[in-house]
Amino acid sequence: MATLDPNPVPRRDFLKTSTLGALGAAAAAHFPFVTTAHAAADDPIRVAIIGCGGRGTGAALNVLGAGTKVVYPETGYHTEDAGVGARAAAKNVEVVALADVFEDRLQRCRTQLERVGMPIPDDHCFLGFDAYEKVLAIPQVNYVILATPPHFRPAHTLAAIQAGKHVFLEKPAAVDPQGALVILEAGRLAKEKGLGIVAGTQRRHQGDYVETIKRLQDGAIGDIFEVRAYWNQGYIWSVEREPGWSDMEWQLRNWNYFTWLSGDHIVEQHLHNIDVCNWVMGTHPVKATSLGGRQARVESLYGNVYDHFATEFEYANGARMFSQCRQIQGCSNNVSEGATGTKGVSNCCNFIQVHGAEAWRFRGGFTNPYEQEHIDLINSIRAGEPLNEGQAVGESTLTAIMARMSAYTGKTLTWDDLIQSKLDLAPAKYELGPLPIAPVAIPGKTPLI
Ligand SMILES: NC(=O)c1ccc[n+]([C@@H]2O[C@H](COP(=O)([O-])OP(=O)(O)OC[C@H]3O[C@@H](n4cnc5c(N)ncnc54)[C@H](O)[C@@H]3O)[C@@H](O)[C@H]2O)c1
Repeated sequence: MATLDPNPVPRRDFLKTSTLGALGAAAAAHFPFVTTAHAAADDPIRVAIIGCGGRGTGAALNVLGAGTKVVYPETGYHTEDAGVGARAAAKNVEVVALADVFEDRLQRCRTQLERVGMPIPDDHCFLGFDAYEKVLAIPQVNYVILATPPHFRPAHTLAAIQAGKHVFLEKPAAVDPQGALVILEAGRLAKEKGLGIVAGTQRRHQGDYVETIKRLQDGAIGDIFEVRAYWNQGYIWSVEREPGWSDMEWQLRNWNYFTWLSGDHIVEQHLHNIDVCNWVMGTHPVKATSLGGRQARVESLYGNVYDHFATEFEYANGARMFSQCRQIQGCSNNVSEGATGTKGVSNCCNFIQVHGAEAWRFRGGFTNPYEQEHIDLINSIRAGEPLNEGQAVGESTLTAIMARMSAYTGKTLTWDDLIQSKLDLAPAKYELGPLPIAPVAIPGKTPLI
């Protein structure tokens, strides 16, 4: 297996991907359908996973199941099914390469894949901060799953698109405005190059949401003047520091609690609900006023993030989005969305109540959105019309970042403030060494950058 590169990668080099441009041509030559309009139903999908942790491994299994389902919908799918790998490969969907910073994480993913009949050879496993470049340089890879902590997503997405690969990117797409703008650029470039981008905002691939929101956009509840987004829950997973770990290693393994890596939970988790509201409204808000703080989860284990936020967003047409998110034990939980229009209300998911009429409920079956997102992307690639969710996920990510920055600074912020912002949360260099933790933001004192 390739070992960890002892040379740290300076942060700016993450966005210097010019050498990767040439690789796009190589990939296109190897797989003509990557950049041409028409494709056959069983064109090869050769997947690389960048970030082989919980979700990266889950997505690897999902894409194999998706491959199976795309071709054999009648056979069903189970992630523990030892035949999955074989069935997927038979229809030309394979995972062929893995990249991660840490060997233990990569090996755990590799073992899972082996169990489903998809062994990855040593020379296709790469470790280190530059491991992503090595899998992007493999010509046969034409589909990458990006599932590192969110900080790395903009650089990895842009590099993958420049290298001519289709991209499945986990949400959120960035942690700061500069990163979100890179995602919007990558989305534009993907369109130009005929490449697909689907994001892990999986509600957009979940039958009940899709059907309900289509009806809302068709005017089922009249003009929508208010949408609501909630993700209130208890604590999520955390990783205690172990002896021998550098600051960087601990922060990477416990990434949810460091704003530079996760974007804070309003970006990392609540993004899902904010994205649903933007989807319903067909656009992003232009202004946000947000309150937040770190009230209960104050131990050093929890880094420098807040544990609650509440935000009022304003859309250009004057409609509002009200949003709450909380990660505090022992409180009321609520993960949902809602919309109110001039003619009625909806939960945006499976229920519409028009005033004075019988309620409509979604009666369709359940589709696993974690598989459906890959089915949709693979089908669109093979049909020669790749989906492109770059703009949608870039704008929703920027919406959540706008709220976090409003709460951190104590200022009402506009979309233009975000576009102008030079905030870049990247560390000076990417190496497993010392990395001081930025102070917790204090509204009224933390400056807007
Ligand atoms: N859509 C969803 O419902 C959903 C659910 C869970 C997680 N996620 C998202 O998936 C992403 C990963 O979350 P997770 O729970 O799998 O975290 P995780 O910590 O389990 O996995 C992250 C992996 O990335 C590796 N990594 C870190 N930096 C890297 C780098 N620079 N290059 C290569 N590998 C690197 C880590 O070693 C780890 O193996 C996050 O963005 C998270 O928000 C989405």
